[in-house]
Amino acid sequence: MKATIVLLPGDGIGPEIVAEAQRVLERVGELFGHEFTFDSHLVGGASIDACGVPVTERTMTACRSADAILLGAVGGPQWDDPAATVRPEQGLFALRERLGLYANIRPVRAFDELGERASPLRPERAAGVDIVMVRELTGGLYFGTPRFREVVDGERRAVDTMVYTELEIRRVVRRAFEIARSRRRRLTSVDKANVLECSRLWRQVVREVADGYPDVKVEHQLVDSCAMRLVTSPASFDVIVTENLFGDILSDEAAVVTGSLGMLPSASLGDGRCGLYEPIHGSAPDIAGRGIANPLGTILSAALLLEESLGLRKEAAAVERAVLRALASGARTADLGGGRDALTTRAMGEAVLGRLERPSRLAGAPPEAARG
Ligand code: IPM
Ligand code: MG
Repeated sequence: MKATIVLLPGDGIGPEIVAEAQRVLERVGELFGHEFTFDSHLVGGASIDACGVPVTERTMTACRSADAILLGAVGGPQWDDPAATVRPEQGLFALRERLGLYANIRPVRAFDELGERASPLRPERAAGVDIVMVRELTGGLYFGTPRFREVVDGERRAVDTMVYTELEIRRVVRRAFEIARSRRRRLTSVDKANVLECSRLWRQVVREVADGYPDVKVEHQLVDSCAMRLVTSPASFDVIVTENLFGDILSDEAAVVTGSLGMLPSASLGDGRCGLYEPIHGSAPDIAGRGIANPLGTILSAALLLEESLGLRKEAAAVERAVLRALASGARTADLGGGRDALTTRAMGEAVLGRLERPSRLAGAPPEAARG
């Protein structure tokens, strides 16, 4: 197939990790006979420095006509002045909102290949974690208005607004039900219905949507108690669906429970085929430019891209398998506890590339041998 993939490397370690994912995609193209065209654009702080805005109309147009978008990360201390009116993150929000990417899918699983010491939790608690976090991405406090600062009687005051329409809730909840249906058929809807009006509407809409999915077992959980359960019994979750800010917070918590923040991919999807794929970790300015960042979250995001936006299942599976085999062989970047033998970003990319296999061999090999 032919596909145009827009690359938005962004800031910090973004360019380093996206470069490795691009090499993986190029190799997939060679091995499986696809023609991928890459089109790289600025976003975030890099775009502010070059063009004065966190995302230009040119970048936006490129994204609109792309088959898929792969993003590194945005942000960094040089753009963090609280008084600044232009911020790197606004680029990300504009992409999410203007491309209609309302559902953020974050698969969180424990990688056996990393060993049981990877998680900060006791091994018996961390074992078997396999969660899909579905986060609403274009509503709630991130986008609500009014939003402003003012001075009242000599005192500074700030206002943000949480607002949700039933349509915004329904479409992401439906998506979560569909995902639950393709998995273990359990859905946890997370809210703060004992306090927030938005959450009470959320819970109501979930109940209504649930009528169409009698085969999925739904539970409602308050966000504070969900935060607790994520560290006490993370393996008890299947699919979690929640609003924007809760999802932001809970997905970092869930990710670190698996011991692999640097490994986890995400997909931001709307009603169309085109999605935006990015690792869930940030721009890591402290290690940017040193070539030591873990590219696996981005490479696994590229695998999600192949599957979700391009419909290339076998290819996505080949990338995932290559990542698992690299880990099984002991390949570790510094964040994965590589210590003195830690691989560079490039070397980890090589470790994956070297294990990507042609379709014919994959088809012929028994699963165990393929995982070798
Ligand atoms: C995420 C990030 C972003 C968010 C930041 C960079 C604005 O934390 O994608 O989870 O809060 O959505
Ligand atoms: Mg976040």
